[in-house]
Amino acid sequence: MSFLSPEKTKSEEAAAEISAGARLIPRITIQAFCEHSQTAQLVESAIHDRRMSKVALTTHNGGIEGAVETYKSNPTPNLIIVETALSPSEIPLALERLAEVCDASTRLIVLGHVNDVPLYRELIRSGVSEYVVLPATSGQIVSAITDLFAAEGGAPIGRTIGFVSAKGGAGGSTVAHNVAWGIATALRQDSLILDMDLAFGTAGLNYNQDPPHGLADAVLANQKVDQTMLDRLMSKAANHINLLTAPVTLDRTFDFEEREFEQIIEMSQNTMPVVVLDIPHAWNAWIRHTLATVDEVVIVAEPDLANLRNAKNLADTIKALRPTETMPNLVLNKMGMPRRPEISSAEFAASVECQLLGAIPFDAALFGTAANNGQMIAEVAANSKINDIYRAIGMQVTGRQVSHAGGKSSSLMKLPSFLKKRA
Ligand SMILES: Nc1ncnc2c1ncn2[C@@H]1O[C@H](COP(=O)(O)OP(=O)(O)OP(=O)(O)O)[C@@H](O)[C@H]1O
Ligand SMILES: [Mg+2]
Repeated sequence: MSFLSPEKTKSEEAAAEISAGARLIPRITIQAFCEHSQTAQLVESAIHDRRMSKVALTTHNGGIEGAVETYKSNPTPNLIIVETALSPSEIPLALERLAEVCDASTRLIVLGHVNDVPLYRELIRSGVSEYVVLPATSGQIVSAITDLFAAEGGAPIGRTIGFVSAKGGAGGSTVAHNVAWGIATALRQDSLILDMDLAFGTAGLNYNQDPPHGLADAVLANQKVDQTMLDRLMSKAANHINLLTAPVTLDRTFDFEEREFEQIIEMSQNTMPVVVLDIPHAWNAWIRHTLATVDEVVIVAEPDLANLRNAKNLADTIKALRPTETMPNLVLNKMGMPRRPEISSAEFAASVECQLLGAIPFDAALFGTAANNGQMIAEVAANSKINDIYRAIGMQVTGRQVSHAGGKSSSLMKLPSFLKKRA
């Protein structure tokens, strides 16, 4: 296997590059923990490879121990690279300690100093994605990352999360946009918001953006859209937040076939770790198909009877459409509106038979200010408890441990993928 032969010839390396093709590694976050400054330099030099042009990479000191200390109180990135100078017998145990503080979806590449086949086998069996023997070239490191995240026919790296309101105006869009902000700030993961409400969408307004292009250009391009075009149509709204906005025009009508958004969603998943779909409150073939196929569905409802009836109908239908996929989730919004009678959150969630991810209070002044300023709640009121709710929803729909966001580790943590395979 290539990583066990650091003395690869130049032509072998060139061939490896060509076989990886021009595929770019998606917009993932990589954090490397090195023990030697030469290794840090080597990893840093990898960023100059064209395949790494979208990647956010940082290097740190401290090897495995440094990583363990960091992730006790910080969320983990898409990929961790650790250098270790430990002996082969010590490495698996040290990595187990790292696994305890890592999220399940995080991948791990180990840079080691010993060329040891049994060690390699044990690490791969325990779920480590790759073991690269030092000294290595930056090309070898990039190829290892490419194999993991940009392999031909590999699973897409992005998680799709669809937000839909049980009733018009319940707040699906507001929740979607603020949850994306929570994910961007807490996880520092790149997300893409698709504003699928082409005639009336608010993602542009809420993020104070008025880009000339957006989602309609992509979907109306008649299958001609490719990754480069999609990249050009996106606008950057904030750090880690990208938008494909709605054109918000009534000059034409928007009627789509059932699968018309499919290609764009798949393409988005190939480049963005998190894809947030802001789905309008309507019921047609493409909305039903989208809700049937995204990774996570979040139904946003206000605590009244019409919302309850619609949320129940939606939840039952979505469960029937995707019996083997994750169940739809519920977020209650505008709780505690003065003088309005309401159904309690426990009763609502029990009737709808969905997991309640959060209940967001009604706050006319705060949400009104945010909407009129084109700002997120966290920008208007950084210390509001509502931000914690959005962040917690973000953690749950991206499969993260909620406790990580709060800065403490939990004994109930799921095993990360790089240990899970051991069973
Ligand atoms: N918790 C809240 N407290 C007060 N106002 C809120 C709250 N959440 C959302 N709003 C306001 O409610 C209005 C409707 O929100 P939003 O546009 O997110 O709803 P929607 O369900 O996506 O609507 P549509 O059905 O048009 O897609 C907005 O003006 C928003 O600012
Ligand atoms: Mg909306």
